[in-house]
Amino acid sequence: MTKIKFYVTTPIYYVNDVPHIGHAYTTIAADTISRYKRLKGYEVLFLTGTDEHGQKVEKTAISNNETPKALADRVVLRFKKLWEKLNISNDAFIRTTEERHKKAVAALFKIVQEKGDIYKGMYEDWYCTPCEAFFTELQLVNGKCPDCGRPVEKLKEESYFFKMSKYQDALLKFYDENPDFIQPATRKNEIISFVKGGLKDLSISRTSFKWGIPVPGDERHVIYVWFDALTNYLTAAGFPDNKERFNKYWPADLHIIGKDILRFHAVYWPTFLMSAGLPLPKKVFGHGWWTVEGEKMSKSKGNVVDPYQMIDEFGADAFRYFLLREVPFGLDGDFSKAALTQRFNSDLANDLGNLLSRIITMVFKFFDGVIPSPHPDIKIELKENPIEKSKEVFKSIEGYMENLEFDRTLKSIWEFVNVTNTYIDKSAPWALAKDDAKKKELSNIIYNSAEAMRQIAYLIFPFMPSTAEKICRQLGIKEEIVSADFDKGKKWGGLEPNTTVIKGEHLFPRIVAEEKLEGKKKMEKKEETNLIAIDDFAKIDLRVGKIIEAEKVEKSDKLVKLQVELGNEKRQVVAGIAKHYAPEDLTGKKIILVANLKPAKLMGIESQGMVLAASDGDILTLATFEKDIPSGSKVK
Ligand code: MSP
Repeated sequence: MTKIKFYVTTPIYYVNDVPHIGHAYTTIAADTISRYKRLKGYEVLFLTGTDEHGQKVEKTAISNNETPKALADRVVLRFKKLWEKLNISNDAFIRTTEERHKKAVAALFKIVQEKGDIYKGMYEDWYCTPCEAFFTELQLVNGKCPDCGRPVEKLKEESYFFKMSKYQDALLKFYDENPDFIQPATRKNEIISFVKGGLKDLSISRTSFKWGIPVPGDERHVIYVWFDALTNYLTAAGFPDNKERFNKYWPADLHIIGKDILRFHAVYWPTFLMSAGLPLPKKVFGHGWWTVEGEKMSKSKGNVVDPYQMIDEFGADAFRYFLLREVPFGLDGDFSKAALTQRFNSDLANDLGNLLSRIITMVFKFFDGVIPSPHPDIKIELKENPIEKSKEVFKSIEGYMENLEFDRTLKSIWEFVNVTNTYIDKSAPWALAKDDAKKKELSNIIYNSAEAMRQIAYLIFPFMPSTAEKICRQLGIKEEIVSADFDKGKKWGGLEPNTTVIKGEHLFPRIVAEEKLEGKKKMEKKEETNLIAIDDFAKIDLRVGKIIEAEKVEKSDKLVKLQVELGNEKRQVVAGIAKHYAPEDLTGKKIILVANLKPAKLMGIESQGMVLAASDGDILTLATFEKDIPSGSKVK
């Protein structure tokens, strides 16, 4: 069966700047959609690359005292290395200084020229070098560039013009007939009104600098960098010579770009293609921008987020997860290390990482490290259970992914993670394990949890490829997740009983936030003032208590109601330990009770004291005594 192709691109990045979070964001999004499409059985062509011509690159090179090509050769490596570290699975990489590309740009120029859409004239307008864009007097904002706010300069030169104005009506008709062409829909109106405002002819050559592709037949001119850059999407698809490849991949299915360069992609680019008689791309998605701790990111502010540093601190998968989970793709977002740490600890360490480690631990504890068989005949009482949730999630994410709703996809996958965690809590396998008659039930619960984990690995694979593989390895699955495996992930029951699981490292060991570490250091410094006197300690009345009765608090996952004997006295205490102790394991235990705590009500039940316990992540253990000692004794 021939596969359906899917051609997706990122912008090609300027080499006058080193990679930052903005570049990483677009490329991670394109990688995620590529991996997803491959899983769905598509033949994907995922293209990224570098934009190496133009005045901006030339200026930077001059100020660095190097040639533009040397600058490009150096910076392109930074991009390539970053894509490797971020696990980017691009199938192609293009540099605009490559011969094949120069040939493609010249060929496109000639086709448009032969069509009669290029003429020579005089150009005079305001030019913003950082944006490589011309503006009319009217478009300027306070005399500055309307896009970046920097100063502009007046340029007057001979130039070749492209008859863009000719395509105004055809373009509006195209938008009308292809309502999904510009995404998200919220950005569509601004583009439509720009076009309706009147399309001017576009200057597509320069004589004021040299670093570019010469105009065929008139070497005094170099081709405008955006005409050059946009053509990269054709070059990589085989234009103009490799007809077979070109017919296969063109038109592109999706151009992913930032909102700042939407006009180039949704207005200029389609008109060039219309003129050349080539099919238009199917979709252009303009994502939002990241600010950093509420401020615009800029070199001068020194707040540019370096993806290399984020990978070193948090790992590639956590960084990928954060960027796609935190903000709906299409809206602006704010980046901070605190927010990343927060997501890391709650979603990755607590929810996902702990789920895997508790499953593996239970397979070892109850089944000697071997996945037990399921018993589908056993009815699951819980309405929210992994089997039902799995169906729902696999169904809903398909729609979300088509719309590039990465955040909703992840939210939905995390519901599955949490339902599985709750399923384990509520089924309390540790209690079932005490009763031989419950063996079948126990193996069913463990199998279902492990199978849910396997499916979760498939679901997160496009977002966090190496985490997905790590989960599979710990579950004892030997094969890697490969193309066209979506259905394999989706079909419940793919995990083979009798597979030997492997105890591995925790996927995401919790991160202690810098502020906390800082705080800890400060506390150490302030030792003197923070130490308490013995009298302070004496205020707490700690007693040996004996649990004589324990029952779960209805409608609560966490709470247990205890009757505690304290010498001759009896106290009722509500403790948040239900996830860690079955009630029947609690009776008879001697514990430490804070006996002079003000009574409080928890879910309407009065608690007359507090039981001491130690906890670390998922582990919680009650403080008990080494030797037997009468209840009511004082703890000092
Ligand atoms: N070379 C052009 C693209 C040509 S495509 C035919 C270019 N390059 S760029 O290196 O300046 O920027 C590339 C991408 O980075 C753009 O999509 C832009 O939106 C994105 N970002 C730059 N800063 C950003 C943020 N602060 N946040 C999110 N993305 C941002 O433009």
